[in-house]
Amino acid sequence: MSAETWVPAGAGIGELRRAATECRGCELWEPATQVVFSAGNPRGPVMLVGEQPGDQEDRRGIPFVGPAGQLLQRALAEAGITVADLYVTNAVKHFRFTEQGKRRIHATPQATHIRACRPWLEAEVAEVDPRMVVALGATAAKAMLGPAFRITQQRGTVLELPPPFGPRPVLATLHPSAVLRTQAGPEQAEAFAGLVADLRTAAAAVA
Ligand code: URA
Ligand code: SF4
Repeated sequence: MSAETWVPAGAGIGELRRAATECRGCELWEPATQVVFSAGNPRGPVMLVGEQPGDQEDRRGIPFVGPAGQLLQRALAEAGITVADLYVTNAVKHFRFTEQGKRRIHATPQATHIRACRPWLEAEVAEVDPRMVVALGATAAKAMLGPAFRITQQRGTVLELPPPFGPRPVLATLHPSAVLRTQAGPEQAEAFAGLVADLRTAAAAVA
């Protein structure tokens, strides 16, 4: 399984976005509503990489518009990162879910899906050429840094992203959904503050 066949060589972001609507690089396209490619400034100095679209992103075709996205917007604002500086995408471009009655429950993408979808991410990094990449959560971090990467041990520090995504700086942090899953109250406030602190570190590295 690989998206490679569908990724046009040397294409700009607009062309990649159009081409991704045709992707059949893995089976996730079929139950999903649509591909969710990316948002933001294709010349932005900071590239945020999430895991995969969620339920609302799948319906609207735009990344980070659901609850996790709203939390992320608050964290970015607190870290002083302007939307104009950002290009936002996901490691996997189709929503993976299981159905429980009428509800669609997020299912973590498998290593095969991450690998299959990676040619899109490679093309995006090559085209956007960001000064800094921020991996939101373990899926994004593993997609770019390899399956041995442990976010619990290496989050919050600026590392060197190896080829084909680098060389360029990368910082891995918590996924905003992980913050949402933390018990409301002081624990969640602490997790949120940790996300903001990591985003500040990323912003400082490109300032
Ligand atoms: N979570 C992600 O990782 N990406 C989105 O686009 C939405 C939620
Ligand atoms: Fe293609 Fe990625 Fe969607 Fe799989 S998840 S069909 S590889 S765009």
